[in-house]
Amino acid sequence: MPATIIVGAQWGDEGKGKATDMLADTTDLVVRYQGGNNAGHTVIVGDEVFKLHLIPSGILYRHVTPVVADGVVLDPRVMLEELDGLEARGLEAFARVKVSGNAHLIMPFHRELDLLIERRLGKANLGTTRRGIGPAYADKAARVGLRFQDLFDEKIFRQKLEAVLIHKNEQLTRIYNRLPMQLDEIADEYLGYAQRLAPLLADTTELIHTSLEAGRHIILEGAQGTMLDLDHGTYPFVTSSNPVAGGALTGAGLGPRHVDRVIGITKAYVTRVGAGPFPTELFDDVGARMCEIGGEYGTTTGRRRRVGWFDGVLARYANRVNGFTDLFLTKLDVLSAFDTLRIATSYTHDGATYEQFPPHQSVVHHAEPVYEDLPGWGDDISEVERYEDLPREARDYVDAIEEHAHAPVTWVSIGPKRSQTLVRRDVPLVPASRG
Ligand code: IMP
Repeated sequence: MPATIIVGAQWGDEGKGKATDMLADTTDLVVRYQGGNNAGHTVIVGDEVFKLHLIPSGILYRHVTPVVADGVVLDPRVMLEELDGLEARGLEAFARVKVSGNAHLIMPFHRELDLLIERRLGKANLGTTRRGIGPAYADKAARVGLRFQDLFDEKIFRQKLEAVLIHKNEQLTRIYNRLPMQLDEIADEYLGYAQRLAPLLADTTELIHTSLEAGRHIILEGAQGTMLDLDHGTYPFVTSSNPVAGGALTGAGLGPRHVDRVIGITKAYVTRVGAGPFPTELFDDVGARMCEIGGEYGTTTGRRRRVGWFDGVLARYANRVNGFTDLFLTKLDVLSAFDTLRIATSYTHDGATYEQFPPHQSVVHHAEPVYEDLPGWGDDISEVERYEDLPREARDYVDAIEEHAHAPVTWVSIGPKRSQTLVRRDVPLVPASRG
């Protein structure tokens, strides 16, 4: 059975949690392949609201095994909090969640350095989530990171921690004028988590492999989004991992021949948190209303998101670097409030027109969007039950998105609940005989 990748097509917060959660129905494994607790998924099931940062949203389905794979960086303290919260709601998280021993640990000095580096950058700061993500990935690449498996070998854990702490304390004391961190304090705290986290340790690549061999379906769930990708996003205003579809393969540890669907999750407009270029950003009342109606405040940090019109140039670029087989369009209902809707079809800068995302970042910073205007529909669409019953203007808007993104829109979400998702093209993830 093939695997499906779910990836954010914009700057994160596109509604991946809802999409994964909906599609998890016919899935056996939901695998988180990168990022850490910088992500935030809000999933609404019935009257219950679940806010997840690290655990894949498939946890909400009892038949799903949620997997935190090799490419993730995890903060054990946050993970325990999340597991306890889920357990308290009867979800047996400790027995079900599987974590790769290769996932890297976010350490207290990563959190501290994230904060200090941002502070030192002053106005040029990236607006990180301050969760220690960048410093943890930097140590992973520098080969001085501690991994989840190290928690279960006290001697090795202390040895590695001692070695890395020498450098971290030099940085903290000499560059940032802070107090040094204590080896025993950190070791006691982290090794104290080990006993409770031990049942989660698993050979996740083996689990994924045997699941695929046995004909099970798996979802590879990305965090953040394409434009926050370390290699393909708006560097340096990016996260430190690879949310794009290719990152799913390295992050989870499987080959491309197993993947047959790549679903891009995209809002019907665009949002971003943190700093960096955003060509269709709105600074006027329209933007303020979009932000309020869309509830555009971060799940992780509570920050107000920047908002703008749907960007066709960006969508084509996301399609290029991910190879979408489908788009899952979210929050179409938010646009009901506007008389006229705009979609950026190209950019201009310095007399030149860009149909494709400009390869030079300086152009992206100054790009002026060229818009196509479409009429709004005015009516509340949040209770519509069939795609065909959407107002003509709403369907035209979806058609326009598909045309500009060069990828087919399969699902359209019109509200936060599971039931508020319309199927536009009937192409099930797995054959009907399994569903
Ligand atoms: P970091 O991932 O905390 O290092 O932050 C780097 C950039 O990615 C910042 O602009 C963050 O606001 C952004 N970012 C990280 N995680 C998310 C997310 O889940 N949604 C949206 N933006 C994110």
